[in-house]
Amino acid sequence: MGKDLERVLITEEELQAKIKELAGRIDEDYAGGELLIVGVLKGAVMVMADLARALHLPVQMDWMAVSSYGAGTKTSGVVRVLKDLDTDIAGRHVLVVEDIIDSGLTLSWLVHNLKSRNPASVEICAALRKPDAVKVALDVKYIGFDIPNEFVIGYGLDYAERYRNLPFIGTLAPHVYGAS
Ligand code: PRP
Repeated sequence: MGKDLERVLITEEELQAKIKELAGRIDEDYAGGELLIVGVLKGAVMVMADLARALHLPVQMDWMAVSSYGAGTKTSGVVRVLKDLDTDIAGRHVLVVEDIIDSGLTLSWLVHNLKSRNPASVEICAALRKPDAVKVALDVKYIGFDIPNEFVIGYGLDYAERYRNLPFIGTLAPHVYGAS
């Protein structure tokens, strides 16, 4: 990707090791049970694919797609469901899987929404978390890396729908998104 990439923040090896570590904890925590992992499209596809393959538990996979209501969403926290779950989660143990928690508003809304469907439990697993997330009361059980407040790409994360396929997390050079 030439000069668009500023630097590698988390290598592919570090990501894969962390996913295996998280999967080990999840296997232990849900031992003897079944788990429904819910990926939030599109960013969560990579971490879902790697986490699902690292788990030894009986796992089912489902997906949601959510979108903001215009530019105000990051402050309002209002989310529109573009694709809902195919699964009835009543009585099920649910683990929501995300690539990144930035403001925390998406997951805050989503967890509230999922809890209203009477699951046995809802927990969160996120590969990355930015500093602003601490402003929202969000109980994140499994977190990969706390990262600085920089524009990150790769491992599912995009800039204008590009770079999602990078196997590592990188920072985007400011000239790409118009900053000096
Ligand atoms: C990203 C990410 C989370 C959300 C986190 O998704 O995948 O869903 O933003 O931000 P928040 O903590 O401030 O709510 P995005 O809306 O970029 O969609 P995408 O997954 O399709 O890239």
